[in-house]
Amino acid sequence: MCGIVGYVGKRDSADVLVDALKKLEYRGYDSAGIAVFEDNKIKVAKSKGKLKDLIQKMDTEGKPQGTAGIGHTRWATHGEPSDINSHPHSGAKVTLVHNGIIENYKELKDFLVKQGRDFLSDTDTEVVAQLLDYYYAKIKEPISAIIETTQELRGSFALGIVFEDYPNTVYAVRRESPLIVGIGQGENFIASDVPAIIKYTKDYYLLEHDEIAVLSPNGVEVFDSHSQPIEKELKTADWDVDAVGKCGYPHYMIKEINEQPTAIRNTVTPRIKDGMPCLEECNITPEMLRGIRNIFIVACGTAMHSGMVGKYVIEELARTAVTVDIASEFRYRNPIIGEGDLIIIVSQSGETADSLAAMRLAKEKGAKTLAIVNAMGSTIAREADMLIYTHAGPEISVASTKAYMVQLSVMYLFAFELAYAKGQIDEDKLKYYTSKLLETSERVADVIAQTTELSQKISTKLVTADSLLYIGRGLDYALSMEGSLKLKEISYIHSESYAAGELKHGTISLITPEMPVIAVATQSALFEKTVSNIKEVKARGAKVIMICQEGCDISPDIANYVLRVPAFEEILLPMLVCVPLQLIAYYTSVQRGNDVDQPRNLAKSVTVE
Ligand code: AGP
Repeated sequence: MCGIVGYVGKRDSADVLVDALKKLEYRGYDSAGIAVFEDNKIKVAKSKGKLKDLIQKMDTEGKPQGTAGIGHTRWATHGEPSDINSHPHSGAKVTLVHNGIIENYKELKDFLVKQGRDFLSDTDTEVVAQLLDYYYAKIKEPISAIIETTQELRGSFALGIVFEDYPNTVYAVRRESPLIVGIGQGENFIASDVPAIIKYTKDYYLLEHDEIAVLSPNGVEVFDSHSQPIEKELKTADWDVDAVGKCGYPHYMIKEINEQPTAIRNTVTPRIKDGMPCLEECNITPEMLRGIRNIFIVACGTAMHSGMVGKYVIEELARTAVTVDIASEFRYRNPIIGEGDLIIIVSQSGETADSLAAMRLAKEKGAKTLAIVNAMGSTIAREADMLIYTHAGPEISVASTKAYMVQLSVMYLFAFELAYAKGQIDEDKLKYYTSKLLETSERVADVIAQTTELSQKISTKLVTADSLLYIGRGLDYALSMEGSLKLKEISYIHSESYAAGELKHGTISLITPEMPVIAVATQSALFEKTVSNIKEVKARGAKVIMICQEGCDISPDIANYVLRVPAFEEILLPMLVCVPLQLIAYYTSVQRGNDVDQPRNLAKSVTVE
């Protein structure tokens, strides 16, 4: 979704803004722009397309010169991607950039048109610029004008604002959409996310709803919605510039796949005490666990798929019923939840609009909420009753890999502790599972080393396919869902995941020699059954790629390719098997010449419904 940056200091602000926007490219966008104070006038440069198009335009038409300004990458919602619809948008004295959606923009626009104001673009953002300009013309004071304006807005917004009468000062305000204020030495920043500014400073404030920040080179002041100054707690990012660079890898996605062993270690190790999971610092106590009636795991996309694995594991070990819900469905289906129920919200970004709304609904209905979140200080993290941070570090590639891996690791930690609290497993078993979970970090490193070459080779066979099927049973089916999503989002090849036993009830009619089938068969109890299903598709001409454990006896006529992962504790195998699925998707995308890290139409952080 849209990215916002702002800068005040001594450097060439156009350069800083573009550089910071590059670090937000992962969020997905289709146009970009900046506004800079040049000789006390606001000069705007904006362009449809990528940042390189904006840079090219500034090379030919002139780059705004100055040391303070705001910048934006836009992911179109209101109006097509075009130069006119790109941000910044302006009124007579006000220029701003916006992330979010203004739900009542039409009625505000009608009001402003009646006041004689003209509009150039189709965006809701220009309405905010004109409304702020309208109030500023009346009040002639920025903070009060911002407060009057934001009181009228319905929806979500993070705004970076400059007023022509206040050169070298940047204003910022937010509601729902994320925004941080970076604190440097003689320079200050605003940004949608920490990666944009980490090169310049690790220190930042998290802006709360309706707080207004005023940035000058010498300092930052923050005011509440009654214009009262407030003290903010200074946060410090605990990762460095390397975490947001490619570090020699051709794409963020493959870098992040390779970071998975470290991410698992960082997430699991601090939660182990005396060989057992200990989630007390996350407010998860054995008493609370014993009181849980039903569990709902609610999330979107890949995060939801981690919940699918979680369901199988929790139900198997803790014998507690788990429903997995897509957040956008959950929030509108009047779910039957209440006291005694636990709603687990899983989110890498912690800002996904549907997941956040689902969590708020669950709270309203009296259920307890537990968030599993990667982004520190994000809205979901801040609003949940209980919180387990995953420590994957920043995930830049739109296709989630390491965040999924650590979401799985937390699902296991939680399932083990719940099973123990409910008396379903004894201490020995708990310690055994925990030790195996700790071992996954090494095993995942082995799998990356052992399966990269074959995954690359397999991807050469998939590159021309129009459509693919992923099949599996039980945990393997849950995993297939993620394999299929990963492939389609970055290779643009259609694929579906299917419960292997369900094929013959309809979907098998699709099978032809042109439709490759990726069959995941790692669970001994279901192995023979899945093999029978594989034979059914093989008999109809499908090319089969089979993923199984080392040591499995597979006759040559069953599969065209067999990808083996080390034999391991079976319930934990999804953490190993997701690696070749990620690698197959990655190499297929690379071979098709796609933009691996920023696939078309997608955004990293989906902050709109
Ligand atoms: C994953 O590869 C996708 N980009 C997407 O499905 C993602 O997992 C989903 O949008 C949820 O995002 P979140 O984890 O930030 O809430």
